Amino acid sequence: MMKIITVIGARPQFIKAAVVSRAIEKYNESVGKAEIEEVIVHTGQHYDANMSEVFFEEMSIPQPKYNLHLGGGTHGAMTGRMLEKLEEVMLSEKPDVVLVYGDTDSTLAGSVAAAKLHIPVAHVEAGLRSFNMNMPEEINRALTDRVSKWLFCPTETAMDNLRAEGYEKLGANMLCIGDVMYDAALFYWAQGKASDEIKALAKEDYYLATVHRAENTDDPVRIKGIFEALEVIAQKTKVVLPLHPRTRKVLEKLGMKLQHITCIDPVGYFDMLHLQGSCLAVFTDSGGVQKEAFFAEKPCITLRDETEWVELVKNGYNTLVGADKEKILAAEKELSGKKLDFSMNLYGDGHAGDKVVKMIMETK
Ligand code: UD1
Ligand code: UDP
Repeated sequence: MMKIITVIGARPQFIKAAVVSRAIEKYNESVGKAEIEEVIVHTGQHYDANMSEVFFEEMSIPQPKYNLHLGGGTHGAMTGRMLEKLEEVMLSEKPDVVLVYGDTDSTLAGSVAAAKLHIPVAHVEAGLRSFNMNMPEEINRALTDRVSKWLFCPTETAMDNLRAEGYEKLGANMLCIGDVMYDAALFYWAQGKASDEIKALAKEDYYLATVHRAENTDDPVRIKGIFEALEVIAQKTKVVLPLHPRTRKVLEKLGMKLQHITCIDPVGYFDMLHLQGSCLAVFTDSGGVQKEAFFAEKPCITLRDETEWVELVKNGYNTLVGADKEKILAAEKELSGKKLDFSMNLYGDGHAGDKVVKMIMETK
């Protein structure tokens, strides 16, 4: 019997964890008994129904045994509260492994709490680097990698990043498994369950946009550059923007009114897959959405100065434009002449989740 605690808290982590939870169930079925017990701990970092609950329902993620309700506040304060409460849970549950995803404050709190109790940590989405230490995500992912026993990398670039940092000498279990988000997209696409409202919205031509990263929302110049550009574009081509609560609050504070962009509340995963599948192109600063644009065979304009998903840029699928209004407008103009071949396989074989479970069970 092996007990795994899965620590999640933010939207993209629910989507990633859905894949591995399903792989755990599959593993148990294949051995004919509940060899792995998964205890899900939700830190509460994201708490609105459309940022959290909707994913558990749609993706049939097992309900968390614990919801710590620790969202809100500054990075340090939130991470500190999580660290304290997660340690209590880990002390009482006594897991064999703690599983964490990506690069959020919940990831860091989960990995550090476990490492300090000498519980082996498995990090899914290890090795990614933007080389911008001002990003909270870069700090979280680098520190999490350092205390992890299993480093599950989505790409060879991520493996190379770890090698360059000397991880082979540290005796870590590094494995390139592909991207669990690709597994998720393949699995849930096949179900095609978007809402009628989103299907109706997606009938005309439109661009899909998402904006939420701290580097943009916390810098008034950048946020204005992005939204002024999207407002101009939206006067010609519809721009659908499911608005992250962080960004909504910032726009309200800055008194920025959006007149042309079609702003909607954050949507569930099925609706998001539909919006990606039917759009002309994607404008985003999201990590996950950059890849999903590629899965949906849509060009992506990334509203950041650098990306961890460099293979998308190298192969012409993704254009990095930062937050400069003129650069965003110029990139939009170039979209119509773009003919891209999306047959390249960059993110594995759709079985990354199974590889996580197999590797943990073989090398525990
Ligand atoms: C976090 C992650 C980021 C990830 C994103 C996914 C960190 C450092 N950042 O950023 O890497 O890309 O999640 O979406 O962990 N809020 C609500 N309701 C919610 C959630 C958030 O109102 O359900 C508001 C709150 O005002 C909160 C703010 O958004 O303070 C920011 O939330 P937080 O989780 O700190 O960071 P994100 O920007 O969501
Ligand atoms: N997503 C969603 N609804 C939305 C916006 C995003 O389901 O309204 C999904 C998106 O399809 C992707 C994930 O959330 O799977 C990405 O999360 P986000 O952009 O919040 O974070 P990041 O990937 O940048 O960490």
